[in-house]
Amino acid sequence: MKELMQKLREASIRAILESENVETLEALRVKYLGKKGELTGILRQMGKLSAEERPAMGQLANQLRQDIESAIEARRNELQSAMMEKKLEQESIDVTLPAEDLRIGHKHPMYSVLDQIKDIFIGMGFEIVDGPEVELADYNFTKLNIEDSHPSREWTDTFYFKDDSSILLRTQTSPMQVHAMETKPLPIRMIAPGRVYRKDEVDATHSPMFHQIEGMVIDKGVTMADLKATLNLVVEKIYGEGTVTRFRPHHFPFTEPSCEMDIQCHKCGGKGCPTCKGQGWIEVLGAGMVHPKVLAGCGIDPEVYSGWAFGMGLERLAMGEYKITDLRLIFENDVRFLEQF
Ligand code: PHE
Repeated sequence: MKELMQKLREASIRAILESENVETLEALRVKYLGKKGELTGILRQMGKLSAEERPAMGQLANQLRQDIESAIEARRNELQSAMMEKKLEQESIDVTLPAEDLRIGHKHPMYSVLDQIKDIFIGMGFEIVDGPEVELADYNFTKLNIEDSHPSREWTDTFYFKDDSSILLRTQTSPMQVHAMETKPLPIRMIAPGRVYRKDEVDATHSPMFHQIEGMVIDKGVTMADLKATLNLVVEKIYGEGTVTRFRPHHFPFTEPSCEMDIQCHKCGGKGCPTCKGQGWIEVLGAGMVHPKVLAGCGIDPEVYSGWAFGMGLERLAMGEYKITDLRLIFENDVRFLEQF
């Protein structure tokens, strides 16, 4: 029996060392150590041994089992690291291969329109300024002469952060007028584009977030004529020379007098069509002369200085320029839509 075990030891160790992969190794484990394996076969013959011989043989058999097991384990480790090395070799990157095509996007159509507008104003000596979207009610309303009972202050219209209505998401870019007047040396020529927020349900013409461009000039002797001339010039640059505008009286708490500017429909020339909803005119912006109260509140003497301001919606401008009929398309960022521009 001792001899049988010695033979098994030699045969099994050799086979294990020669095995080429983990599958054959596993087959060998079954062959030698499995329930119906060769070692078990030998142990079955223990019954034929005398009681004195048995313990020594049992010990030998156990030692053999352990040795075969550790030989298998050692070979398994060897095979596995060889496999890993081979894999790494095969998967190494060939740096001489041509690179994959890079997918480069392009500017969002609305931001192309914004760039165009920025260029126009920069060309006229304006500065582009940026300001907070989280704003104090003081700046969004109070310093703009918007009284406490004004409907735009309602909780149903405005996103507030605190119960006391002191901090909010700005509902317009007009607080940038105040920031500029409080911090910049005079004279001021600036535009301030950015996001604004109102509690509106999403539909084809509404979104709780949209963009405005605020514009403002403060200097000595600035008049409504400057406002009209500047805006007419901007409109001609955007919509083409000879574009006709009209200024309608309007009311804003922070400008006096106030107006809204329309452009004559560039599609039908004022006759009335679907683009202008049969009106012949398209409303573009709100504007006016900065209210003396607002100037004084920012520490500017309204007897010495005057100025004008306007605010326009960027989405509407982009929709007009690119003939986009649904506001949602601008924000959904569906590449199939954006690729068209
Ligand atoms: N902030 C105004 C609005 O959101 C627009 C505006 C800006 C009007 C500047 C006058 C002057 O409707």
